[in-house]
Amino acid sequence: MSKKAKQTTPMPASIVSNMIKDSGLKSVGNASIREIKRLIDNIERASEKKFIRMEMGIPGIKPPTIGINAEIDAIRSGVTGIYPDIDGIPTVKDEISRFCKLFLDLEISPRYCVPTVGSMHGGYCSFLVSGRRYPEKDTILFLDPGFPVHKQMVKMQGLKQQSLDVYDYRGSKLRNKLESILKSNTIGALLYSNPNNPAWICFTDEELKIIGELATKYDVVVLEDLAYMAMDFRKDLSKPGVAPFQVSVSKYTDNYILLISSSKAFSYAGQRIGMMAISERLYATDFPGLSNYFPTNNFGHSMIYGALYATTSGTAHSAQYALAAILKAVNEEQYNFVEAVREYGDKANIIKKHFTNNGFHIVYDMDGDSPIADGFYFTVSYPGFSGIQLVEEFLYYGISAISLSTTGSLRSEGVRACVSLIPREMIPELKNRLEVFHQDHPLS
Ligand SMILES: Cc1ncc(COP(=O)(O)O)c(C=O)c1O
Repeated sequence: MSKKAKQTTPMPASIVSNMIKDSGLKSVGNASIREIKRLIDNIERASEKKFIRMEMGIPGIKPPTIGINAEIDAIRSGVTGIYPDIDGIPTVKDEISRFCKLFLDLEISPRYCVPTVGSMHGGYCSFLVSGRRYPEKDTILFLDPGFPVHKQMVKMQGLKQQSLDVYDYRGSKLRNKLESILKSNTIGALLYSNPNNPAWICFTDEELKIIGELATKYDVVVLEDLAYMAMDFRKDLSKPGVAPFQVSVSKYTDNYILLISSSKAFSYAGQRIGMMAISERLYATDFPGLSNYFPTNNFGHSMIYGALYATTSGTAHSAQYALAAILKAVNEEQYNFVEAVREYGDKANIIKKHFTNNGFHIVYDMDGDSPIADGFYFTVSYPGFSGIQLVEEFLYYGISAISLSTTGSLRSEGVRACVSLIPREMIPELKNRLEVFHQDHPLS
């Protein structure tokens, strides 16, 4: 940045530079989401100026009172003093099963529906069991870009990992590429999020069919992360029992675990409760490698009495009542959870235009033949900058984001922007800051 520009940036440049130095981070652009969050908090405090916070996916919508009230009632009734069953209280299991039928068109018995400590915990346990079924299938494949902390989990568990950036392999091109990897017979499970964090890619039915068929052929467990379930706002996925439904790999294989989060769809992040739906066939199957780590070779038993028991022994009792009440209201069409979060898509639509009007490009821009949907996240780049450089340069303009290089993306020029924490009233200020950025970095 030129000296002149530095004097006129929206955030005082000297404060930003000093705070970056004080943070001790080797590279701001490569820092984790939580590290960037702390740095921004420090700059805001020192400058007394507000950032446009786009670095972290915190839900920006109030949690439904129906959940809060059910949780308060449950606490008053005394559940706080009692251990919940590891695999969940019956009412929440029933409502998860109904939810799967009504919003995914998936028949799954309550037995295979389990509440977890956020879907992060479901993911952790899924890696733990799926990656240990056979000694040789000890690698987790990520269909990237993806959520960095999943990669951290796999590393912590001593499992191997591989990444496939799907940017160049959308549609029918996915089959050959994915098969070339799965053929190695070293992949125990593969994970993707749909809609995708960070790129908001929504896999099409064609792509999910390819993934499902190959997962069956090569015995790979598909971990389908539905953290943003039903939030492809291009279709109305909000009506229980009425098509269209959330697309899912569970239509095409019985080798799946669905990880469904309550954090974004139900704005219930703070209570750390999510859901796991395990295919009945997978749940019942024995695998030779499991008894090296768990009480038996049986998948379902290893999951419940091995992974879940040894990690958290079930999730908070009162939060299970909250989730059961929210799901019941959703299932019975008394609470339209999709309408409640549509605001994210509406804001993204406006905000993306301010970026593209100021020289930015959307990095992951298409789903098949359709432009990418408007949702919780989007990805942008600016000519002449790598993602890492852009994250750091943005700090001087009071905008925070994370670099795509931390997400398994090969599009190193990009950053992820999250719309959830930008209040509508700050959008004009974001527009101003992007205009100043554009003026300071003119494009030829
Ligand atoms: C793709 C993805 N998976 C999982 C999670 C975490 O979900 P939970 O809060 O239910 O653990 C997130 C949260 O940001 C996410 O983006």
